[in-house]
Parts: sequence; structure tokens; C-alpha cells
Amino acid sequence: MAERVIPLHDQRIAALAAPRPAVAQAPTGRLFDALQRPLRDLRISVTDRCNFRCSYCMPKEVFGKDYPYLPHADLLTFEEITRLARLFLAHGVRKIRLTGGEPLLRKNIEQLIEMLAGLRTVEGEPPELTLTTNGSLLKRKAHALRQAGLQRVTVSLDALDDAVFQRMNDVGFPVAEVLEGIAAAQAAGLQPIKVNMVVKRGTNDDQIVPMARHFRGSGIVLRFIEYMDVGSSNGWCLDEVLPSAQVRARLQEAFALVPLPPGAPGETAERWGYAGPDGRHDPALGEVGFISSVTQAFCRDCNRARLSTEGRLYLCLFAERGYDLRALLRAGVSDAELAASLAAIWGSRNDRYSEIRALLPPQTRRSARRIEMSYIGG
Ligand code: GTP
Ligand code: 5AD
Ligand code: SF4
Ligand code: SF4
Repeated sequence: MAERVIPLHDQRIAALAAPRPAVAQAPTGRLFDALQRPLRDLRISVTDRCNFRCSYCMPKEVFGKDYPYLPHADLLTFEEITRLARLFLAHGVRKIRLTGGEPLLRKNIEQLIEMLAGLRTVEGEPPELTLTTNGSLLKRKAHALRQAGLQRVTVSLDALDDAVFQRMNDVGFPVAEVLEGIAAAQAAGLQPIKVNMVVKRGTNDDQIVPMARHFRGSGIVLRFIEYMDVGSSNGWCLDEVLPSAQVRARLQEAFALVPLPPGAPGETAERWGYAGPDGRHDPALGEVGFISSVTQAFCRDCNRARLSTEGRLYLCLFAERGYDLRALLRAGVSDAELAASLAAIWGSRNDRYSEIRALLPPQTRRSARRIEMSYIGG
């Protein structure tokens, strides 16, 4: 594996200056990009650290003990994050997801959740507030997270078999503790819970059916994710991608599945329900999802903006550069100026990497400057 790993250049140095429009305009609650896609979903990365070393995300060869993580002074403070989130909500965002790295490693994360839970969408509702975690600290923290106002969680889990899982997380973390974390989240009422499984051909594809069997009928939605060429350090190659159509075919050998309608516009997952004996979807058995960003891009409706730990706004998971919002915040600009800057940034957005991946010359596809998943979250 190590020989395929590409050295990581510190692409974090290169930020784009956030625009400062001459005329500040109050947010209208509706913002469309250059491809007419609304802004709805804000993903906030709260740390670039993680206690796992999943080979597809933070391979040990790159993220070793000398890796230069961001110093504390570079991170956005909770006040800065909350201020930006409030402006994003005023621009039409409805869902906020905290990510990392591993977001539960950020100190006092409950405080931030409490601050974000107090914000309102333009419709006057609390934002949908969720978090993506590897589950390792969930048993300890689920209750406090719920108390703070978190609504639900998504847990990453790539296998039920300990040997496979430990090989993938590369720190020897046992499956049982993640399952205990999931149980604690359920008990705390952090629902609906989703489990994300990145499928790598030849690594954990034998876990597809056992994972489905385990979560079927549990109220937990299992989602299969195609291994993506995100970042530049994981040594991605197409041979290791198992297309969702094949994952589904393997499931259908064991279970009857029926297609379900999309839950929300711009949703990442295609939904399929377990059928009962009458051949129709049985809600008690639940559903699975397929996230197919390699074989079936979903950029057309992509309504997601990503804020990095140090306050850069990225318009695509595959972007090379983000807009430096922290510089504006720390220069003391007004809310109206910040809101105008956000509107200008989103208004010019035309990213659709997954759609055009196949058309790009190979050297652009494997750009070493692309941001890492561990830096921007999922
Ligand atoms: P729900 O609101 O629970 O449906 O979550 P979600 O699917 O919007 O977010 P989640 O973070 O659970 O996304 C699951 C996985 O889908 C991520 O870990 C990524 O692998 C992938 N993914 C999410 N958003 C994007 C995106 O905008 N582009 C691409 N290419 N992949 C994405
Ligand atoms: N391909 C697909 N998904 C990935 N994730 C991280 N790296 C990749 C990748 N290369 C997703 C996983 C994990 C979340 C934090 O990010 O779903 O659960
Ligand atoms: Fe950590 Fe999640 Fe990346 Fe694994 S995929 S290294 S758990 S951030
Ligand atoms: Fe959105 Fe970029 Fe993912 Fe396409 S590749 S869905 S534009 S984040």
C-alpha cells in the first residue's frame, strides 16, 4: 500500500481572498449559485485531527506523528463559527453538520452545539443539527450531545468483523465499542441514526451483507459509499471502487429490496427499502442508501457549502482552494459585509467535479493540491 501513497503538499497555505462587495445587501433567505443550485446545507469542520487512521482518509504514512496539524490559534472560535452559521442560515441554510477529522475530539464541542441549536432558519425553525463521527467517543458523549441540542448523528463503520475493521481504522479500534456508541446514541434519542460504510473492493466488500443483516430492522439506516478519489494522499485507484449497482446486486441476493423516492432535494443517497413478504416496503425492516459519487454523480442538485476548521469556505469536496472567511472576521467587518461576501462567493459557484471527473486529464484528476477529507469532513 505504502508505495502508492502520494506525499501531501500543504495545500492549506493557498487560500482565496474572500470578496468584499462595495454594496452590502441584507440576506434574502435564498441564494443560488451560477448553476441555479440553492444553498441549503452547511458542513462545519471543527478539527483536522482524528484518533483513527483509515487508509482511505488519513493513511499513517502521511498522517504520522510529525504531521503539522493546525495550531489552536488558527481554528475558528465557537463565537466565530456561530456568527458565520447565523449568516449562512439567513442566506437559506437549513441543515448544519459538524464534521472533522473527528468532531468529538474538539474540546467542549457541546458548547458549540448549544450555541448553534439556539440559531434559527429564515422560517424561524431551529436548524437541522447533526454530526458525523467515527463513534469512538459516542458512548461517553451521546447524552451530553443530545442535552446540548444535537438532533441526530451519522456514524462511520466499515465492517462488523473486527479484523477487517481494525485493518481499516489502522489503530486497532474494536467494532464492539463503535456499536456501543451507536446504542448510546439510540438511547439518548439522537435519531434517526445513519451508518456510513465506505466500500473498498477487496478490503471490506465481504462485509456488505453482514452489515446489512446487522442493521436491518434496527431503525438505523445503513449507507454504502463508493470509495472516492477525494484528497491526494489515499492512493485512490478505480480498481478499488465497487460500483453501487454491484453492491445492490450483492444485497439483492440476500434480501428483497424496492426503490424508495428521494427524501430531500439534493440528497446524496439513493434509497432502497427492505420488502416484506407482500413485496412492498416494510418500514419496520427499514432501508439502505447508496452514495455513488463515482459512478453516478449528484452534482446537479449539490446544495452543500463546507467551512474548514480554520475558516475557509470550500464550494466542493474536490476544490483545491477555499475562501478565507477568517481574514474577514478578524479584520472586523460587519455582518452585512460578511453576508455580502458569502452571497458573492456562492453566486459565482460552478463546481461540479464528480460530473466532469471522467472528462478531466488524468494529471488534473490526481492533483496533489486537493483538500483532504480529514481537513474538510465528509
Ligand atoms: P444526511 O443528511 O444524513 O442524508 O447526510 P448526507 O448524506 O448529506 O451527509 P454525510 O456526511 O452522511 O455524507 C455521506 C458521505 O457521502 C460522505 O462521507 C461523502 O463520502 C459523501 N458525500 C457527502 N456529500 C458529498 C458531496 O457533496 N459530494 C460528494 N462527491 N460526496 C459527498
Ligand atoms: N471516499 C468516500 N468516503 C470517504 N470518507 C472519507 N474518505 C472517503 C473516501 N475516500 C467519508 C466516510 C467517513 C466520512 C467522515 O468521510 O464516509 O464516514
Ligand atoms: Fe477519521 Fe473519519 Fe477519516 Fe477515518 S474517515 S480517519 S474516522 S475522519
Ligand atoms: Fe457537490 Fe462537488 Fe460533490 Fe459534486 S463533487 S456533489 S459539486 S461537492
